[in-house]
Amino acid sequence: MATLTTETVQSVHHWNDTLFSFTCTRDPGLRFINGQFVMIGLEVNGKPLIRAYSVASANWEEHLEFYSIKVPNGPLTSRLQHLQPGDKVVISGKPTGTLVQDNLLPGAKHLFLLSTGTGLAPFMSIIKDPEVYDLYDKIFLIHGVRWVSELGYHDYITKELAEHEYLGELVREKLVYYPTVTREPFRNQGRLTDLIKSGELAKQLGIPQLNPETDRALLCGSPAMLDDTCHILDELGFQESPRMGEPGHYAIERAFVEK
Ligand code: A2P
Repeated sequence: MATLTTETVQSVHHWNDTLFSFTCTRDPGLRFINGQFVMIGLEVNGKPLIRAYSVASANWEEHLEFYSIKVPNGPLTSRLQHLQPGDKVVISGKPTGTLVQDNLLPGAKHLFLLSTGTGLAPFMSIIKDPEVYDLYDKIFLIHGVRWVSELGYHDYITKELAEHEYLGELVREKLVYYPTVTREPFRNQGRLTDLIKSGELAKQLGIPQLNPETDRALLCGSPAMLDDTCHILDELGFQESPRMGEPGHYAIERAFVEK
């Protein structure tokens, strides 16, 4: 049985009717690589009810942060969405996951972080990692959602992070945030898969079409988004990291939906 720690909720933020995030205390012994996930949840009737969640905070931060959808009848999120500061959550097991910089081959110019929905979470951790910035000229964070209200962290990325005491300079120089919306008007529109395939994304970013010589990618989204995006990257000549510790041009993680 994996070790179970109990942590205290510090803050809760509701982005809209369907999305929320919260921060909680962090066991000083909990070490992770930015991009990894842990099992978190609640104790229900004396038993832990836990699911995999990407850590949205960076490993140098004192607290942990998680980003979640609210599934109306989801066993966990129907409860988790009512969290209040001071409530307890449980964290189980060792942080793990393949969505880490170490799974990418060295020597590229650009890192693409390709996400839809709550697939943004692990990338919130990665864009706060100064070591990742050292490895690339540009980091392109692409976030696809249905509705503008689902662009969680939009203002945090464009305002707070860009003004961050230590990271602000790196962020302003290297991070390019490209949110795209599919079901209502917005400055960027369309699925990221279509935008990549047509060359429109590269054009708008002012770079050549994605290619394995200059580009690396981490992918986090729904199973359909992952399938389609992998297929497009494969056609462009990219090779996926086959497993942890064997780097490739890109690596994926299943978004942790249906909670
Ligand atoms: P769309 O509105 O065209 O379905 P979801 O909430 O269903 O996970 O979707 C989040 C975002 O991901 C939406 O913008 C959705 O676009 C998009 N999306 C859904 N399926 C795919 C896919 N197979 N490839 C790329 N984007 C997708």
